[in-house]
Amino acid sequence: MRPSTLITAIPPGLHVAIIMDGNGRWAVARGLPRAAGHRRGAETVRAIVEAAPALGIRTLTLYAFSSDNWRRPEREVAALMRLFRAYVRSETKRLVANGVRLSVIGRRDRLELPLRTAIEAAESATAGGTTLHLRLAIDYSSRDALAAAATAAWRAGAGALTADSLATALGAAYGPGASALDVDLLIRTGGERRLSDFLLWECAYAELWFTDVMWPAFGATELAAAVSDFHGRERRFGGLVAQPLQAPAALGPGGGGPRPRSAGDGTNQRRTTTVRPPGQCGLA
Ligand code: FPP
Repeated sequence: MRPSTLITAIPPGLHVAIIMDGNGRWAVARGLPRAAGHRRGAETVRAIVEAAPALGIRTLTLYAFSSDNWRRPEREVAALMRLFRAYVRSETKRLVANGVRLSVIGRRDRLELPLRTAIEAAESATAGGTTLHLRLAIDYSSRDALAAAATAAWRAGAGALTADSLATALGAAYGPGASALDVDLLIRTGGERRLSDFLLWECAYAELWFTDVMWPAFGATELAAAVSDFHGRERRFGGLVAQPLQAPAALGPGGGGPRPRSAGDGTNQRRTTTVRPPGQCGLA
């Protein structure tokens, strides 16, 4: 059995990833500056984080700022960075109280020091959270992370990459202690239907759910509707019907053959290409 491949019966819990789109349009439609939409969007983040555990979500990855977002006007970028800092600082207490572990994935070297410091403080204060793992993707680009992971593996002389070794390197590219975890459900608000360089590797078998609702107007009701729709889908992972999982040793040569990932109820079994460090209660 390759050490970095686990086929696990996961604890009840979904990995939901959200592309939070529509802040600007929501604000403009109300005659407000775009920054007001982002501020309202931050309130939605708070509401969704609170609603997630009751819906069986165990990991929530939110796309807060893509590496391409640096191209926005300086004023808007500055407002967003201030908002992230304020959120991270002001929410830490509440996150700890609610058992939420906060992590940030993405590049940190281009973030201003006060934001980096606030992130590190919040990550360390919330490290014991076991109810929900909230991951904020800031200065995140899936393509850049994949390129960085491949480069790191090549520099380490790792030889030919496998899906598993690349996934492990990808986790490392996200930041200390981070991992690349398959997404169960990807939600995008704001009416667009694209992935925008978000978790491209991890969304290989994600179920996709799009809504026209703008992020500031999104709420627990919409999240519950998305999760409920997800539970109604049959996930076949390339197979035909739900099949019992095979042990990795029974897979094709080098493990490169078909990889059954079926889950009886579509959610309770998952293949992950990451090794979970002990003591994280299955959160990743
Ligand atoms: C996309 O909407 C949204 C962003 C680029 C920023 C996301 C930020 C938030 C939700 C605010 C707070 C987040 C945290 C984590 C505190 P857009 O502005 O591109 O909307 P548009 O397509 O209508 O212009």
